[in-house]
Amino acid sequence: MSCEAFYGKFHLDDQLIRKAAFNPYYLTVQSGLNDMIIIEDEEVVDLASNNYLGIANDQRVKRAVVEAVNKYGASMCATPISVGFSDLYKETCQKLSSFIGLEDSLIYPSCYQANNGVFSAIAKQDDVIVIDQFAHSSLIEGARATGCKIRPFLHNNLDSLQNNLKNCEKYSQIFVVTESVFSTEGSIAPFNSIVDICRQYSALPVIDDSHGIGVLGATGKGILEHLGITDYDGIYLASLGKALANLGGVVSGKKSLIDYLKYFSSHLVYSTALPPHVLAGILEVLNIIEDEFDNLSQKMWFARNTLRDALSESGYQLSPAEAPIISIRTGDSVDTILFAKQLFINKIISTPFIYPSVPKNKGVIRMIAGANLSTKNLDRVISCFKEIKRDLA
Ligand SMILES: Cc1ncc(COP(=O)(O)O)c(C=O)c1O
Repeated sequence: MSCEAFYGKFHLDDQLIRKAAFNPYYLTVQSGLNDMIIIEDEEVVDLASNNYLGIANDQRVKRAVVEAVNKYGASMCATPISVGFSDLYKETCQKLSSFIGLEDSLIYPSCYQANNGVFSAIAKQDDVIVIDQFAHSSLIEGARATGCKIRPFLHNNLDSLQNNLKNCEKYSQIFVVTESVFSTEGSIAPFNSIVDICRQYSALPVIDDSHGIGVLGATGKGILEHLGITDYDGIYLASLGKALANLGGVVSGKKSLIDYLKYFSSHLVYSTALPPHVLAGILEVLNIIEDEFDNLSQKMWFARNTLRDALSESGYQLSPAEAPIISIRTGDSVDTILFAKQLFINKIISTPFIYPSVPKNKGVIRMIAGANLSTKNLDRVISCFKEIKRDLA
C-alpha cells in the first residue's frame, strides 16, 4: 500500500459536526477548574470534568504540588523500577493501601494503562474474563490484549453473570470484571453480590472504582466501603484523575500480586513513573478527604440532587443513576451534539456521549455537578434547562 493510500484510510467524516455546526470535542480550555472555567474565550459553568469534590484547583493541593516541583523538579525521567521510585511514590502507595483498605498498591501513569497492564501480566490464554457489557474501554482493551476468552454478561445482571460462570469450568482461572460506578449511566454495580458469586465459582473479582474512589462510602473510600466489603480478596483499580483530582491509576490487592506486577507488568516497568509533584498532589487530596469528606460530599450531593430533581421535574429523560452523575438521554448523535451546543451557547459545558462510545441512538449528555458549584451557578443552570425545554416544546 502506498503512503498516500495508507493515510487516505484515516479520512475523518465530519458530516455530523457540519450538520450541528458545532464540535464539542477538543475545545480549548484556558483556565483551571473553578466554579466557572474559560473555554474558547468564554466563561462557562463546568459540568464536564470529573472534579467531584471540587478540589483540583484547591490552594493546598497547588501548594503541595509546587513544593514538590521545587524539591524534585519536573520529572524523575525514569521508570519506577529504576530511579523513578521516589519517596513520594512509596508514601503514596502506602497511603492509598490504607485508604482503600487493601494490603499493597502500585501506581501506573494512568488507570487506562493500569487496566491494560494488569491483565497483560496476569491473564493467560487458558483463562476466561467474564466482563460487564458496559465496562470501560480500558478494561475491554486490556482483556482483549491477553488473547484469552472473553464472555460479556448483561449490565449489572447477576443472573446473566451466574449463567456465564456455570459454563466456565474448563478454564484455568476465571476473572470477573466490572466497574463500581458506570461512567456514562451513573449506575452502581451490586459488587457485594458479585464478590459472593465469585466465591461460589472460585473466580477472582476485579473492580474498577475510578468513579467511586473519593465519592462513595461514608468517608469517601469508594465501593468497598460503600457496600461494606471487608474481606476483599480480588483486584482493585482506580483512576487518580477524577475525585482525587490528579493523575495516575492505582492497583491494589494482595502483596504477592503487587510484588509480581512490580517486576512483570510491562506497562509499569517500561513507562516513566509519575513525577513526585503529582504524587504530592494525590497525598494532599487524601489528607483533605480525610479531614473534610463530610462537608465536600454534602455539597456534591446537594448539587447533584438539586439539579437532578429540577431536570426530572422539567420533563428531561434521565438515566436512573444512583451515583453523582446525571445523564440526559438525547437519542441520536446529531440531537446529542445539538443539545451540547445549546448548553454551550448558554455557557454550560457538558460531556456528550455518542456512538461508538454508547450504542447507536443511545446518546447521552453527561453532567457532573461537583462540590465547588456555587448556588448562583446551580440556579442559573437550572433556569437554562427550563428555558431549553420550553423552546423544545
Ligand atoms: C471507569 C474508568 N476506568 C478507567 C478510566 C481511565 O482512567 P485514566 O484517566 O486514569 O486513564 C476512566 C476514565 O475515563 C474510567 O471512566
